[in-house]
Amino acid sequence: MRFKAVVFDAYGTLFDVYSVQHLAEQLFPGQGAALALAWRDKQIEYTRLITQSDPNPAKGSRFHQSFWDLTRLSLHYCLDRLKLDRSLGQDEALMGQYAKLSPFPENLEVLRRIKHHGLTTAILSNGSPQMLESAVQSAGMVGLLDHVISVDGLRLFKTAPQAYALVQQTIVLPLEQILFVSSNAWDALGANWYGMRTHWVNRQGLPFEALAPRPDYSGADLRSVLKTLELQE
Ligand code: LAC
Repeated sequence: MRFKAVVFDAYGTLFDVYSVQHLAEQLFPGQGAALALAWRDKQIEYTRLITQSDPNPAKGSRFHQSFWDLTRLSLHYCLDRLKLDRSLGQDEALMGQYAKLSPFPENLEVLRRIKHHGLTTAILSNGSPQMLESAVQSAGMVGLLDHVISVDGLRLFKTAPQAYALVQQTIVLPLEQILFVSSNAWDALGANWYGMRTHWVNRQGLPFEALAPRPDYSGADLRSVLKTLELQE
């Protein structure tokens, strides 16, 4: 078997961030999709702004805030930008949902199969440790993941190379034996640039980024990872 460990991105890959769209739509009819999309984009934009503005490899960025706080701040920005009311705690309702995201339907079975074949499994995420713990629990993934690696302590976010370097500090294997799986094309690209083998889960049928290289593998949902790992579906 070529790979001995599989490392997953968290948000959008293991946890269904689109589920917040349904609550957003209930709270703000007609605006749920727009809000969910803008929220995600702004959240990632803030991680990049912080990382690029002070990419200190030893101390991290002095502008750092946790991913949880950036998630709330980006939500506030988007609500204000779309002129949506949060006076009744709509923002906290959405944050509550974000803390307890469901897994994509096939994910638990795929993780079980990977574990059954004795591979090491992990998360590498921008998420802060507490929010990851809560998400892993509510998705029913406790026991299916050997490591949950948060970049939080670095005070830098993906795609800083230091973030991807955390994997080999936790899982002592040659890089060629570790598969990195993400639904975020930019994350797959960052991991690829770092030197990892990557599998892009393209749930939305999007074109890959115009920047090379393409991911080593890809598929429409998490089941496709089993094929990459040469495990039976
Ligand atoms: C993560 C986000 C970026 O889990 O999806 O790192």
